[in-house]
Amino acid sequence: MKNTQYSQNKPDLTAEQQNQITAAAQILRKGGTVAFPTETVYGLGADVTNPHAINKIYQIKQRPTDHPLIVHISDISHLHYWAQAIPDSAWQLANHFWPGPLTLILQRSSRIPDSVTGGQDTVGLRIPAHPVALTLLDSLGPEKALVAPSANRFGRISPTTAAHVREELGAAADMILDGGACEVGLESTIISFHEQLPKLLRPGGIAVSALESVLDRPIMLAHNTSQTIRTSGSLPAHYAPATPLKIYSTKYLWDRTLALAAQGSRVLVMTWSDIGQSHPSDQSIQHFSMPADPITYGQQLYAKLRQFDQAAFDYMIIEAPPDHPSWLAIRDRLQRASYNPFDNKQN
Ligand code: TXA
Ligand code: MG
Repeated sequence: MKNTQYSQNKPDLTAEQQNQITAAAQILRKGGTVAFPTETVYGLGADVTNPHAINKIYQIKQRPTDHPLIVHISDISHLHYWAQAIPDSAWQLANHFWPGPLTLILQRSSRIPDSVTGGQDTVGLRIPAHPVALTLLDSLGPEKALVAPSANRFGRISPTTAAHVREELGAAADMILDGGACEVGLESTIISFHEQLPKLLRPGGIAVSALESVLDRPIMLAHNTSQTIRTSGSLPAHYAPATPLKIYSTKYLWDRTLALAAQGSRVLVMTWSDIGQSHPSDQSIQHFSMPADPITYGQQLYAKLRQFDQAAFDYMIIEAPPDHPSWLAIRDRLQRASYNPFDNKQN
């Protein structure tokens, strides 16, 4: 069965949106950059065939040039054009989950410039499930595609609304297309077929169990994989707010929070379980209840981290999410966000 989960419940585009997309396509054809919505997070797009435009992306994001970019296409029939030696299992996943939050790392075709892949012989590809993204890609034609990293400065939280993109990039992008709040809210799941067997490089919008049930075999996890595969999302301090973020288990949450408050710190506490109902009434503690299911938690996470990061707390305390596979992507992002930015100069 094909994946239609994300694309069907979207309203049609308005005439105004169509006009905006036409203008965006013009900018991209001339080598400009356009931020656009996807179902996961907003991306900062440029023409994959234009190395000068790709350069702008690295500059705007302040991202090292050896960190490869994901190439976005609008139709599965274009896959052959950008990748080669595609394994059957990759086709299976693409057929089932595209359009959707899944990126496949495949052997690149000669049409992919070195600047896209950081010199690696592989390329990441996906079809985003968002009508604005798909219409934009379609209007560029089948021999074009868009590189699009998340539209944030390197190491920062990915934007899930057009307003977040403006906060991150200001006027640095030539245009920002507004497609509302992102439905998934976390980046795509990345699966590599580089060494033949499917391997998880980044947990994300599609659960590993869903991929495994389509493939009918287990997917290896990234932690024990080759260090030579560079994924910027796999650097420790990614997705980091500026406010120090700490993750505590449900059991110790209030004890640790009260200890910080007792030292005079202003603390924001984000919970998902019932423990939130028993929060201590202390003026220096502000509490926020997140949804207890991973889908809605994931939709809101970046927006909430961004919002609380601007509220000048001394600490953000997050209740550790459940140790269940359906929370894997959320645990991964919180883990990375919990590194103290002052200990880690790459931010
Ligand atoms: O949901 C998403 O994937 C969003 C939206 C905009 O599509 N994009 C996104 O791009 O998250 P970015 O650049 O922020 O993260 C892409 C990740 C990076 O960690 C990059 O290193 C990795 O994908 N990646 C891209 N191409 C790769 C390759 N050939 N081999 C290994 N990792 C790759
Ligand atoms: Mg990113």
